[in-house]
Parts: sequence; C-alpha cells; structure tokens
Amino acid sequence: GRVAVFMGGDSAEREVSLKSGKAVLAALQSAGVDAFAVDVRGCLLETVDEPEFDRVFIALHGRGGEDGTLQAILAQAGIPYTGSEVLASALAMDKLRTKYVFEGCGLPTPKFRTMASVADAKQIAAELRMPLSVKPSREGSSIGIRKVSSVEELIEAYEKAEALDTLVLVEEWVEGPEFTVSLLQDRALPAIGLSTDHEFYDYDAKYLADDTRYRIPCGLAPDDELRLQHLALDAFRVVGCRTWGRVDIMQDADGQFWLLEINTVPGMTDHSLVPMAARAAGISFEELVVRILRDTLE
Ligand code: DAL
Ligand code: MG
Repeated sequence: GRVAVFMGGDSAEREVSLKSGKAVLAALQSAGVDAFAVDVRGCLLETVDEPEFDRVFIALHGRGGEDGTLQAILAQAGIPYTGSEVLASALAMDKLRTKYVFEGCGLPTPKFRTMASVADAKQIAAELRMPLSVKPSREGSSIGIRKVSSVEELIEAYEKAEALDTLVLVEEWVEGPEFTVSLLQDRALPAIGLSTDHEFYDYDAKYLADDTRYRIPCGLAPDDELRLQHLALDAFRVVGCRTWGRVDIMQDADGQFWLLEINTVPGMTDHSLVPMAARAAGISFEELVVRILRDTLE
C-alpha cells in the first residue's frame, strides 16, 4: 500500500523534520516503496478521515508529532504508523517525567528539580550542585537548553526556557563526554561518542557546525560500551518504546553513565546519528528506513 511520510509540522524542530522527512522519503522511494510526503500543519483529523495512504512513516520531531498526540489520532483511525505508541511517545517527549521513570526503575539520571517560578532559584541552587542544565521539559534538538553557574544565570535561563514550555527541568550538569546509543528493533547499534568545541552538543553543533566530532567506534573499552548499550536498552524498555529510537547518555569523570533522555523520532538528516550508527553496523540508510517501516503494527 501507499506510505505517507509525515514531516514538517508546527514544532520548533520543523526545519530538522523537513530534512529528516525528505531523506526518509527518498530512501523509501529508492527501495521501491510507493511513498509521498505530507507536511502536517494544523489539525490532522481531516487528513485521516478519508486517508490516501495505508500507513504512516512518522518523521515529525517535537510536540504535536513525536509526543503521542498524532500517534493517538492514527491509532483511532486504525492507520499503522512507525515507532513508539502513544504512552511511550508522550512520556519520552517529557524529559522531566522520563526521569521520574528512570529513578523509579533505579536507572541512573542526573539529580534534578522542577522549576515552577523564579522564586525557586535559591532553593534549587542550594539543593543541586552547580553548574546546572536548564531545559524546557518537552522540547528537542537542545532548543532552549542552557548551562548555568549562578543563581542569576539560573533565573535568566529559566525565563528563556519557560517561554518555550511551562514545564522547566533543572538538572546537575555532567561534563561528559556525551554518548548516544541508537536502538533498532530492540537491539542496540554501536554507540557514538560526541565532542564539540561548543559548550555542549547544542542546536548549532548538531546541525550547522562542521567541527562537531563523532567517534564511532565510540572510544570506550568493549566492556564499557556493552554496559552503555545495556543501559540504553533498559531505558528504552522501561519507557515502553517500540522499534527504534536514540538514548542520550553522559559519562562523568569517574566513568559512571547518566541517562539524559530518549528520542522516539530521532533525526534522520545527513548529519544525524541513527543513520551513522546503522551504517557502522552494516545497515544502509535505505535498509534502515525499510526496517522501521516493516515494524509498524497492523
Ligand atoms: N530531536 C532531534 C531530532 C533528535 O533527537 O535527533
Ligand atoms: Mg530529545
């Protein structure tokens, strides 16, 4: 049947999603799949009422596409779609509540607090160790994330984050290195180590800079990489994710790993990490998208 590749959307990650979606579409077509693009803007109900497609490849990032709302509409309409279902999508979009689940399951994640107003700044600074990372809880591609080292900076960063999401997460900064583990059909792909001259792996380092360095093999001893991959798989399972995703993890100076978050629709642009990990495992981009598509539930 026909496959609609959902891309674009209205989130802050629209531009990234258009790139992911175009790459996915081209790969599906070159694999002989009858696929076309749908730029999902506004309400989706009409699109699924009398659909011109039989299944959906979701290449939307961020709220409205990656957060379970769209998955619920497709589920209601009986249209199979790629990736995680409603609950895991909604949960993984929310970094704060994902951390509650990690903690509840005994998985390591940096110490954190919710910040509800600027009045919380002093208390948080007293309870957590600086520097801190301030994040809008339900945003992607590092949009709105700041590293802070004082109460004043915390307040300023809170105001920026709060403009993007009413839910703001503050967590202890882990210096890194940063690693990311891609999951495909319940298997961990080779881990990637990230380094950047930016303060951290931010939006520019992700999509614009050409001095971001990706290590694959990731540079860890084989046993440590295995430990990292197991941790990523555990994180993926406790949140209930399906088929594919990417787990972002920091390592501290003592070698301990710390889970940051899960992405249920990770980037699929030519700078993106899942395609890079797949390639290292001998899986071409085309094969990757076909495998993700095949896993949609009937
Ligand atoms: N949110 C971006 C697309 C990623 O995780 O790759
Ligand atoms: Mg994310």
